[in-house]
Amino acid sequence: MKKILCTLLASAALCASASANDVALGRAKADIACALCHGANGQASLPNAPNLAGQQAIYVSEQLKNYRSGKRQNEVMGVIAKPLTDTEIAQLAAWYSAIKVTVEAP
Ligand code: HEC
Repeated sequence: MKKILCTLLASAALCASASANDVALGRAKADIACALCHGANGQASLPNAPNLAGQQAIYVSEQLKNYRSGKRQNEVMGVIAKPLTDTEIAQLAAWYSAIKVTVEAP
């Protein structure tokens, strides 16, 4: 599925598999800029912020780019995404997608 999506989107940056270094750099950035609302391990600490732990990297980076461009509008995330570079976005996406989550139905 990922391969098909990557082919369709023709985006090498999104589809290159993340290195351990990207994950570490993303984590360091997230600790400073994101953890307040999205939690230290991607489990949101604010009731109106979404969980990001285990989210697909392609989804996280697309949303960040959409906030950055204004295609997706949100007062808070628009401001936060504005200064992010493509590299930082890829690293943040690598970090959140690398977090392992387990799901248990009630
Ligand atoms: C002040 C709180 C706050 C901070 C800090 C913050 N966020 Fe958010 N984030 C939110 C809220 C609230 C939303 C939901 C916005 C919406 O409804 O579109 C959100 C949404 C998102 C989404 C979309 C998730 C989805 O399920 O569609 C992503 C991705 C995201 N944030 C990443 C980040 C990253 C990466 C950082 C750090 C660089 C960050 N956020 C920092 C509050 C925050």
